[in-house]
Amino acid sequence: MFLPNHGANPKQLIEALGKQIPNDLIDFSENTNPYGPPSAVIQFLNTDFTKTMTNYPDPHVTELTSKLAQFTMIPTKNILVGNGAAELIFLLANFFQGKRVAIVEPAFSEYRDACEAFECNVTSIVLSSPWHLDVNMVLSSISDIDVLFLCSPNNPTGVSYHKEEIIHLIEAAEKQGVYVVLDEAFYDFTEADCGLHQLVNRFSTLVIIRSLTKMFAIAGIRLGYLLANSDLITKLRIRQPTWSVNGIAQQVGLSLLKEDAFVEQTLLNIHQERRRVTSVLNDLDFFVSDSVVNFYLLAERDRKDLMPLLVFLLEKGIIARHTYNFNGLDGRYLRLAVKTRENNDQLMDALAMWRKR
Ligand SMILES: Cc1ncc(COP(=O)(O)O)c(C=O)c1O
Repeated sequence: MFLPNHGANPKQLIEALGKQIPNDLIDFSENTNPYGPPSAVIQFLNTDFTKTMTNYPDPHVTELTSKLAQFTMIPTKNILVGNGAAELIFLLANFFQGKRVAIVEPAFSEYRDACEAFECNVTSIVLSSPWHLDVNMVLSSISDIDVLFLCSPNNPTGVSYHKEEIIHLIEAAEKQGVYVVLDEAFYDFTEADCGLHQLVNRFSTLVIIRSLTKMFAIAGIRLGYLLANSDLITKLRIRQPTWSVNGIAQQVGLSLLKEDAFVEQTLLNIHQERRRVTSVLNDLDFFVSDSVVNFYLLAERDRKDLMPLLVFLLEKGIIARHTYNFNGLDGRYLRLAVKTRENNDQLMDALAMWRKR
C-alpha cells in the first residue's frame, strides 16, 4: 500500500486504500488557509495577465524582494525568493551536499528527502509527545553535525517552540559553526508573534524559511522566501534555476503583502475554531496536540494505530492526513486541518459517530 507522502492528495490516498471516491470530499489533510485566497489574488487572476504569461519573468524577482524587505525589515541582500518554500529546502540541501544533517522530528518530510537526494548523512532527533523542544537532547548532538533542521511552529504537531530556547540553540550552534535552518512556514498563523527573522542579522549560520502558500492559499501558484546572511544567499542563488519564480507568482506576491486585514480575520477565525474543535474532541475523549496554528494531531488516549479511523472518516467523505511517514508518530495520530465552521462541524459529527459505533 503506497500511502501519499504528503497531505492534499486525496485521490492517491483513496486509491491506496482501495476505496471508491465519495461524491463530496472535505480535505482535512490540506493545511492551507480555508478562508483564502484573499480577494486581491482573485482580482489579479480576473485581469488580463497575458503579458505576464507570455513574457519571461524578472529572473532576480526584484520588486517582490524589495517589498519583502520592507515587510520583514531585512535588507534585500539577505532575501531569496523561491518557487515555494520547497524549492528553497532543496537549494539548501544542494548547498549542504554530503554534510551531516540532523532533523528535529516529527517534521516535514521534505527536509530528509532533499538532504538524502544530495547525499547528506541524515540523523533524527525525535521528540516525544507533547513535542516540546528538548534543548539538552538537541545540544548533545550539535558537536557531531554540520546542519540542524528545526520547524516552528512545527508541521505536523502544530506546536511552537519557545523563542528563548530556539535562540539558545542558535547561539550554541553558531559557536560550533553549525547551520540552523529554522522553517517558519506557519509562523503567520500564530497569535503571538513568534517570527525570529530579525536574528539573521545577528547569526551568520541562521537560515529562516517562509512560505506564502499556506496563509494565502496559493499552493498551486508556489511562493516562498528565505532569509540568511548575504554570502549564503549568493551561494544559493547560483544554484537556483533562472526564472524559477514565475511571473504570475511574482505579481500575486506583490498583492499579498498588503493583505493585513485578511491575515487578521483569518487568525480570529482559525483560533476560535481550533479552540472550539479541541474542546469538543477532548469531550469525545480524544487527545489533541497543543497546536497554535491551523492544524493539529488527533489520537486515541491509548495511542492505538489509527488506520481504522482514517478509513472510517474517508467513507464519510473526510480526508485526514495519515502519519505513517512521520518519525515518532507512526500512524498512531491523524493530522487534521482547522477549516470553516461548517466543515469542522462535519468532522466533529463523524468523530462522534466513531465513538458511538
Ligand atoms: C513546514 C513546511 N515547510 C515548507 C513547506 C513547503 O511550502 P511551499 O508550499 O511554500 O513549498 C511545507 C508544505 O507543506 C511545510 O509544511
